[in-house]
Amino acid sequence: MGQKGLAAELGGGTAPLELAPEEFRALGYQVVDRITEFLKSLPSKPVAPNESASAIRELISLPFPDRGEPAGRLLEHALDLLLEHSTFNSHPRFWGYITGSPAPIGALADLIASALNPNLGKWVLSPMGTEIEGQTVRWIAQMLDYPTDCGGLLVSGGSMANFVGFLAARRLKAPWPVQVSGAVDVKSGRLRVYTSAETHLWVQKAADLFGLGTDSIRWIATDEQFRMDPVALQKSILEDLRAGDRPFLVIGTAGSVGTGAVDPLPTLAAICREHGLWFHVDGAYGGFAAVLPEESADLRGLSEADSVAVDPHKWLYAPLEVGCALVRDPKALHDTFSYRPQYYHLVEDPAEKAINYYEYGPQNARGFRALKVWLCLRQAGREGYERMIGDNIRLAQTLYQLVQEHAELEPLSRSLSITTFRYVPPDLKGSPDAESYLNQLNTALLTRLQGGGEAFLSNAMLRGKFALRTCIVNFRTSIEDIKALPELVVRLGAEIDATLRPLESSKSKS
Ligand SMILES: Cc1ncc(COP(=O)(O)O)c(C=O)c1O
Repeated sequence: MGQKGLAAELGGGTAPLELAPEEFRALGYQVVDRITEFLKSLPSKPVAPNESASAIRELISLPFPDRGEPAGRLLEHALDLLLEHSTFNSHPRFWGYITGSPAPIGALADLIASALNPNLGKWVLSPMGTEIEGQTVRWIAQMLDYPTDCGGLLVSGGSMANFVGFLAARRLKAPWPVQVSGAVDVKSGRLRVYTSAETHLWVQKAADLFGLGTDSIRWIATDEQFRMDPVALQKSILEDLRAGDRPFLVIGTAGSVGTGAVDPLPTLAAICREHGLWFHVDGAYGGFAAVLPEESADLRGLSEADSVAVDPHKWLYAPLEVGCALVRDPKALHDTFSYRPQYYHLVEDPAEKAINYYEYGPQNARGFRALKVWLCLRQAGREGYERMIGDNIRLAQTLYQLVQEHAELEPLSRSLSITTFRYVPPDLKGSPDAESYLNQLNTALLTRLQGGGEAFLSNAMLRGKFALRTCIVNFRTSIEDIKALPELVVRLGAEIDATLRPLESSKSKS
């Protein structure tokens, strides 16, 4: 092959993934137009599709393509599939689990971030991106009244943000060099973690993944409102110290995943100071409520923590995925994650501190998730967040009140923007023998609700009671949406009861 032929062969033609600028523009408009129509039609769409996994899988039973296809057709096909067969957490009546309604500016930010594709692992690869992440972290600290000179970074979500706090605690508080010799030292006693059973499952993953084992967790009792009991905590720490173990970490929760319970954080902080333990707060769900001037001193106590996890993809309404870890002492974060291989050429100018985020967290290459959070914070401002978060809490309070007033509903809990309750047929009210049936009935009711598309809830298990759980982290939910829920639950509950109870009683007779 001559030189000319070789040039055509090697990149001289158009690469299979290239889009000519005009084609990119046309397709971009097309995609944005369809998303715009989707957003307009959201309230009239079902929140979730009532389709089985196999039916959905069947829709994309495609072979791995040998040859490529035109991008325009592919984008249309992807949108057809997704707009008709998805669960929409952007819907005004999505109140399941804890996923925020996504801010549209976040979607546009993700487009910009992907188009430019900066790698936020190192400053030199993302000069503006890195600075935007730094400012985002400082603004988040400011919202929480946490020191703005803390260390911190954005990660994939709440679990990962909590992992960062956990790892910093392990690195700084273990009495031996865990990064060299591992998390267990039989001669020195066992590392112990203290938290309540209301803590999200990330803590079991952390104890397992980071070498302590889940048996290292002391599950501290909670009070009537599912908040950690500080007396039980003190007692457990003292017992472990007497036994020669190494307490090192207390994890408080600012908004538990089940009921939104807030631990008495200032008291937990004082206990940690007394014993020299690391105090980590999981504020993945509730932490941002600290922006509200009227929020409790218990919640605001997260500002006393050594590390805090919050989740912008929950109550900052940023699209998935983005969590944020803050560590009071930036050096602690650096000591936990920094390695300096020879193949990294890091230019350091003492007069010009440039942060290389790969040294502050678990990831090496890192995407530009900061942009969507930065733009959300700027579009809404502090006042905007006070309004949206405050409204979500007021809507949850209104729902609790409506449930209380309804003869066939039993309220179970309300904290922050989570309300839990259950359907109880009038003739089963106050009947202690009905508990197991009520759990069955409400489980079936939740399945029907999730499939029905009229509203999307999830559940909590509260001292043996299966509860329907609404968690409002949704800036599109209106009072009308909330008012419609009790009647919907009662209608479906009565329908299910009418068929389920005779079935169950005939089963128990046979
Ligand atoms: C209190 C709490 N912590 C941690 C997490 C985990 O967050 P993510 O799902 O973003 O990993 C959640 C998720 O709901 C949560 O509610």
